[in-house]
Amino acid sequence: MTDTPASYSGPQRIFSGIQPTGNLHLGNYLGALKKFVDLQEDGWDAVYAVVDLHAITMPMEKGALLSQTRQIAAAFLACGVDPKKSILFAQSSVKAHVELAWIFNCVARMGWVERMTQFKDKAGKDAERASVGLFTYPVLQAADILAYKATHVPVGEDQKQHLELSRDIADRFNREYDAPGFFPLPEPLIKGPGARVMSLKDGTKKMSKSDPSELSRIALVDDADMIAKKIKKAKTDLLGDMPSEVDGLEGRPEVENLVGIYAALSGESVEAILRQYGGQGFGVFKPALAEVTVNHLSPITQRYREILDDPAFIDSVLQDGAERADAISAPVIAEVWKLVGFWGA
Ligand code: TYM
Repeated sequence: MTDTPASYSGPQRIFSGIQPTGNLHLGNYLGALKKFVDLQEDGWDAVYAVVDLHAITMPMEKGALLSQTRQIAAAFLACGVDPKKSILFAQSSVKAHVELAWIFNCVARMGWVERMTQFKDKAGKDAERASVGLFTYPVLQAADILAYKATHVPVGEDQKQHLELSRDIADRFNREYDAPGFFPLPEPLIKGPGARVMSLKDGTKKMSKSDPSELSRIALVDDADMIAKKIKKAKTDLLGDMPSEVDGLEGRPEVENLVGIYAALSGESVEAILRQYGGQGFGVFKPALAEVTVNHLSPITQRYREILDDPAFIDSVLQDGAERADAISAPVIAEVWKLVGFWGA
């Protein structure tokens, strides 16, 4: 849909967010959090939010929002997001998100939003009873990104369609308000072996917070025994031992997923892993995978628990992040207000 070249010439910046709903799992870690830290270490200017406004688009347990927001902030910190290098804040504490979302609600077309498959998945059969917020969820997501004029967005593959919508909204705003290059057309950063981690119980479904089976996902708070148990019980297939080449993963989604997790956590290539384990049974590979997973996650889990014990520290990080995020986004909103032509802008 976007056919004009991006003529944005401002600085490059990253934005991404995670919802404070349910326990984070290995998919959130490999698809998002690990990448956030890698990008931060590569020197990117990065803004990360706990997207609590998004969380209320679906029913939530009463009174849970605040503690879940702190939990996700603690997870960001435990995984290595450094508040001295990156900005970390709660979405609801910075007004720009809601303000820009309204403007974008008037820029996005119904037809574009109606195509979003995540709404269809989350609303289920009874879409009439879904909140209007759930429908416009991806419009708020575009506002999150563009309030900071972010040029790059690290996410898992499930967010690809939302990112395309963000680009369409940015492009349409720029044209409608005669402001070429005002907003960048944000690029998704999706590549890598962890971009789509699948359920441990079904290699064709993504690992998800909402799967009723705890055995389908590894939670970031699982201890070593639980991780080993879940990997031991992970579904494989009856097509024999581990293949020794990548071609041999074809038609074996569960095996491909386990090898992908091993690759993403160890930093080894899929080829090298298959060379090492090809021809061996899962009785050998699964304990090795459990060991790699535990070694990688246990320091994170330990830090997470320590940080959670210090809510005053979490709040101070979020407060400082909110001020820094506001300092970037408030001037963008002021410019948007002028471009739209509101009184007093
Ligand atoms: P959320 O909270 O559902 O998920 C957070 C991040 O985890 C990624 N992810 C996965 N990656 C790989 N494999 C999986 N099985 C898996 N499951 C989840 C998601 O892709 C995401 O990167 N809409 C977003 C939150 C959001 C956002 C934004 C993201 C709101 N505003 C602006 C980027 C930019 C979401 O639902 O994330």
